[in-house]
Amino acid sequence: MEELKKAVAKEALSFVDDDMVIGLGTGSTTAYFIKLLGELIREEELEVYGIPTSHQSRLLAIESGIPVISLDETDAIDIAVDGADEVDPNLNLIKGRGAALTMEKIIEYRAGTFIVLVDESKLVERLGEKMPVPIEVIPAAWRAIAEELEVFNAKAELRMGVKKDGPVITDNGNFILDAKFERIEDPLDMEIELNTIPGVVENGIFADIADVVLVGTRDGVKKLER
Ligand code: A5P
Repeated sequence: MEELKKAVAKEALSFVDDDMVIGLGTGSTTAYFIKLLGELIREEELEVYGIPTSHQSRLLAIESGIPVISLDETDAIDIAVDGADEVDPNLNLIKGRGAALTMEKIIEYRAGTFIVLVDESKLVERLGEKMPVPIEVIPAAWRAIAEELEVFNAKAELRMGVKKDGPVITDNGNFILDAKFERIEDPLDMEIELNTIPGVVENGIFADIADVVLVGTRDGVKKLER
């Protein structure tokens, strides 16, 4: 599996050019990309800037020698590269296992080209088949929102920390609800609808924003495009 992640990360370097501003996603697959990008910048003396989507990616980018800037320092993001938890046949995504979905969506929505890196185990027929939809919420609203999600036939759980006591706190100081839906008929509709609930900051459905999905398979990297 790690080999497939490395292979897609390497393939994503073909989208990189000099003078680019690049959105840096979060997660184990993107981590390979960030390290390889650092090496490429050094070897080819590129003038490339990274906009990280999380503290985790920011630290890794700095360690890898990538100059980092923030969204309010640039007019344009040329490309963004990130992993995903599920990809459906229309290239709609579920993201947010790493709890960085809000900043990921802010940056990837604005990128000229959004490139997604996955291995073949992430491909599904219908979003929500395997993974819950992570929803970032204002802490005081978590219980009310979890109850409201029952209207959508979703069962939501407050995500708890693995190396920390109590709930996971996002980079923005919020909680994460993981909502398991019985069925997501229309990803774009559901994405919009969830964000209308007061207290929801952002949700992990990324409908209609991926331009390219690089899929790591045992027969090589496959490229899916919209
Ligand atoms: C981070 O919040 C997520 O959106 C990740 O991009 C997603 O969970 C994929 O992570 P992996 O590459 O580690 O599977």
